[in-house]
Amino acid sequence: MSLAALFTSLFVVGHLTVSATTQIPFQAITDAQRSHLVNSPVDATGDSQFYEFKWPIRKVAIIGAGVRWVTGVRREVGALIDAVECSGLLAYRELIDAGFEKVKIFERDAVPGGNWHYTDELPLEAPIPNLDPKIADYEPSLPSPDSALPFEVWYADHNDSITTAERWRRHRAPHAVWKSLTSNVPAPHMHFNGHDWPPGTPWNLPHALLTRYLRGVYSFYGINSNDKSANVTYSTRVELVEKRIDAEGIEQGWQLTLKKFIRLGPSSSKEVWWTEDFDAVVIATGTFNAPNIPNIPGLAEWKHKFPGSILHSREYRYPEKFANQSLLVVGAGTSATGISADLNLFVKRNYLSLRRSANSTTPTAFLNLLPQGVDIVVGIERFHPSNATIELSDGTLLADIDHILFSTGYQYTFPFLPQYHNSSIGLDEEGPEDRPQPLVTDGSHYRSLYREFIYIEEPTLAFMNMNLGAVTWTFGEYFAVAIAKIWSGTARLPNQAEMWKSYRERVAASGGYGKKVLYLPSTGGGMSGYIAFFMGWLNSAAYEFGGKTIDGLNKDFFEQLWVFQIAFFANPNPVRIPESNHSEGFIAASTEQPSPVEFLDYLTSGY
Ligand SMILES: Cc1cc2nc3c(=O)[nH]c(=O)nc-3n(C[C@H](O)[C@H](O)[C@H](O)COP(=O)(O)OP(=O)(O)OC[C@H]3O[C@@H](n4cnc5c(N)ncnc54)[C@H](O)[C@@H]3O)c2cc1C
Ligand SMILES: NC(=O)c1ccc[n+]([C@@H]2O[C@H](COP(=O)([O-])OP(=O)(O)OC[C@H]3O[C@@H](n4cnc5c(N)ncnc54)[C@H](OP(=O)(O)O)[C@@H]3O)[C@@H](O)[C@H]2O)c1
Ligand SMILES: *[C@@H]1O[C@H](CO)[C@@H](O)[C@H](O)[C@H]1NC(C)=O
Ligand SMILES: *[C@@H]1O[C@H](CO)[C@@H](O)[C@H](O)[C@H]1NC(C)=O
Ligand SMILES: *[C@@H]1O[C@H](CO)[C@@H](O)[C@H](O)[C@H]1NC(C)=O
Ligand SMILES: *[C@@H]1O[C@H](CO)[C@@H](O)[C@H](O)[C@H]1NC(C)=O
Ligand SMILES: *[C@@H]1O[C@H](CO)[C@@H](O)[C@H](O)[C@H]1NC(C)=O
Ligand SMILES: *[C@@H]1O[C@H](CO)[C@@H](O)[C@H](O)[C@H]1NC(C)=O
Ligand SMILES: *[C@@H]1O[C@H](CO)[C@@H](O)[C@H](O)[C@H]1NC(C)=O
Repeated sequence: MSLAALFTSLFVVGHLTVSATTQIPFQAITDAQRSHLVNSPVDATGDSQFYEFKWPIRKVAIIGAGVRWVTGVRREVGALIDAVECSGLLAYRELIDAGFEKVKIFERDAVPGGNWHYTDELPLEAPIPNLDPKIADYEPSLPSPDSALPFEVWYADHNDSITTAERWRRHRAPHAVWKSLTSNVPAPHMHFNGHDWPPGTPWNLPHALLTRYLRGVYSFYGINSNDKSANVTYSTRVELVEKRIDAEGIEQGWQLTLKKFIRLGPSSSKEVWWTEDFDAVVIATGTFNAPNIPNIPGLAEWKHKFPGSILHSREYRYPEKFANQSLLVVGAGTSATGISADLNLFVKRNYLSLRRSANSTTPTAFLNLLPQGVDIVVGIERFHPSNATIELSDGTLLADIDHILFSTGYQYTFPFLPQYHNSSIGLDEEGPEDRPQPLVTDGSHYRSLYREFIYIEEPTLAFMNMNLGAVTWTFGEYFAVAIAKIWSGTARLPNQAEMWKSYRERVAASGGYGKKVLYLPSTGGGMSGYIAFFMGWLNSAAYEFGGKTIDGLNKDFFEQLWVFQIAFFANPNPVRIPESNHSEGFIAASTEQPSPVEFLDYLTSGY
C-alpha cells in the first residue's frame, strides 16, 4: 500500500471512530421508560428479545484498582497499538455517575495503579510446568467453613513458616514492570477525559510518571489509599465470588469472600476474612496475573538441576544483576524484545529465541526494537540438563547459558470464579451442555462473553477490557458506559440466545479459539465495526432512556499513533532474523528485516 493510500485509510477510519465520552445533559429515566424496559417487546415465539435481569441491581463491586493498558492489533489499518485504559477507575466513574446505591472497589495491592505500581519486590517464581489456569494466580484462601466471620489470623515470623514480607508478596502479587520501562503508546492516547497531561510531557512515558498520574486521578475521585473512602478497600484480595441464594432458594446476586492483609509490624501481620453482598460485579483484574511457560522437554529437570536459572519476564527488574552472564530470552513480544534491549549492554551473550509457529500472533515488528548485539536464534526443541546444553529446532546446541528468561506471556485466570474454569475442555470444544459454559479453559484466552465484556451465562458479571483486540483507551469508556447503562436499565442486552448467536459468529470469524480470539475479527469491520456498534447501541439507548452518549475517535488519534510508531519502531540497522526452516510445525521466519519505509508498508498490510 502506498503512503497516500495509507493516509486515506487512516483518515477514513479516523473519521468513523472514537475518542471520549460526551456528557450530554443527563436525563433521569422516567417511570414510563422503566416500565417500557420491563415490558420489553416480544418476538414471534413469545420470548422477550431482551435479557431480563433476575434481580434488581443496586450494589456493584469492582475488583481491581488498576489501569488498563492493552496491546492490540488494529487489523484494518494494520498498525500496532498499545493503549492505556483504566479498568477499575473507569468502571467506578461511570457507575457512580449512573447513581447506583453502592459502588465499591476491592484491590489486593496497598495502592492504586495496578500493573504500573513498580517495586523492586519480585512476584513469586513461576511454576514449571504451568499450573492449571484456575489456580495459576492463587488458590482461594478461606477460613474453615464453620468459622464465624469476620475471621482473623495473626502471624509472626517466629511462629509462621512464611515471613511477613513473603506473606504480603503472595497476597498482593508484585507486577511485571521493569525499572527502565517506558510506555509504547504516545501520552496523548493515555489519558482520562478531563485529566490532560501538562504540555511538555514526553510521549513515551516512564512508568513512574504514569503511576503518579494514575494516583493523582484516583485522588481526584477520592479513592486513593489515603482517602479513607468507604468506596474502596486496599490490601484486600477477592477470594471467591459465589451466587447468593436467599431463604426461599432464589438466586439473589453475589457474595464476595474477601481477605485483607494488615501489617502489624516489620515481622508480624494479620489477615481478616469477611463477606459482602452485591448485585453485580465488574472484573477489572487485568490479564497478566499468571505466567505462561511453555512445556518444553527437559525444562523441569533443568530447573531442578540449576535452581534460580529460569525466570519469567514478570520477575525481571534491571540488567545489572546479569552483568557478564549469558542470557537466553524466549519469546518475541514486547516483553522479550524490551528486556533483551535492556540487557544488551550488560551481558556477555544475549540470545533471543524466536519461534515462528503457524499459531503465532506476535508481529515481527517488535524485532525492530532489538539493538545490534542481540543474537536471534530459532525456537527451543529441548533442554539437556545432563550436559547443560539447549537444543534448538534447527539442531544448534547452546552451551554456557546462565539464565533463561521466558517472556512467553500469561495465562487467563479468574481465581475467584473457579466454578467457571474447566481445563478439561479442548481448544475448539465447548463445555457440557448441562453446565454453564466456562470463562476459561486452557488459559490461552477467555470466552463465553457477549461483545467481550458480558458473561452470557450470568450478565451481572462484566469484564473490563480483557480482550486484547477491543483496544485503545477509548474502549474502557465504551465498556464502562455500557455496563452502567445495562445495569441501571438505560440500555438493553439482547436475550441469551441472541447473545450466544452473536458470540458464536464472532468466534467463527476469528477462526476458532486460542489467542487469536483475543483480537477483533476483520469481518464485520473489525475495530471500526466494533466502535460503530457501541456508538449505535449506546447512543440510541441514550435517546430512548436518557443518559450519556459517546463520541467517535479524536481526529488526531491515528496521526499521532502513526508519528509515534515511526519513531518507536523504525530501525535503520536491524538485527538479522535467522532462516529457520520447518521443523514440527515451525514455519520459516522472514530472512529480511524491513527497512523503515517498507516497515510502514508492512504495518498497513496486516499479517
Ligand atoms: C511489563 C509490562 C509492560 C507493559 N507495558 C505496556 C505498555 O507500554 N503499553 C500498554 O498498552 N500496555 C502495556 N502493558 C499491559 C498492561 O500491563 C496491562 O494490560 C494493564 O495494566 C491492565 O490494566 P488493568 O487495569 O485492566 O489491569 P491492571 O493494571 O493489571 O490492574 C488490575 C488490578 O486488579 C488487582 N487485582 C487482581 N486480582 C485481584 C483480586 N483477586 N482481588 C483484588 N484485586 C485484584 C491488581 O492488584 C491490579 O491492581 C504492559 C504489561 C506488562 C506486563
Ligand atoms: N511498554 C512496553 O514496551 C511493554 C513491555 C512489555 C510488555 N508490554 C505489554 O505487556 C503485554 C504482555 O506482553 P508479553 O510480551 O509479556 O507477552 P505476549 O505478548 O503474550 O508475548 C509472548 C511471546 O512469547 C511467545 N511464545 C508463547 N509461547 C511460546 C512457546 N511455546 N515457545 C516460544 N515462544 C512462545 C509468543 O510467540 P507466538 O506469537 O509465537 O505465540 C510471543 O512472542 C502486552 O500487552 C505488551 O504490549 C509492553
Ligand atoms: C461513594 O459511593 C456512593 C454511592 O455510589 C456515592 O454516593 C458517594 O459519592 C461515593 N463517595 C465518594 C467519596 O465519592
Ligand atoms: C503467632 O504468635 C502470636 C503471638 O506472638 C499469636 O498471637 C498468634 O496466634 C500465633 N499465630 C499462629 C498462626 O500460630
Ligand atoms: C565484567 O567483565 C569485565 C571483563 O572481564 C570486567 O572488567 C568487569 O568488571 C566485569 N563486570 C562485572 C560487573 O563483574
Ligand atoms: C548433550 O546431550 C545431548 C543429549 O544427550 C546430546 O545430543 C548432545 O550432543 C550433548 N552435547 C554436548 C555438547 O555434549
Ligand atoms: C469439564 O469439561 C469436561 C469435558 O467436557 C466435562 O466432562 C466435565 O464434566 C466438566 N467439568 C465441570 C466441573 O463442568
Ligand atoms: C530452508 O528451506 C528452503 C526451501 O525448502 C531451502 O532452499 C533452504 O536451503 C532451507 N534452509 C535451511 C537452512 O535449511
Ligand atoms: C496450532 O494450534 C492447533 C490447535 O488450534 C494445534 O493443534 C497445533 O498443534 C498448533 N500448532 C503449532 C505449531 O503449535
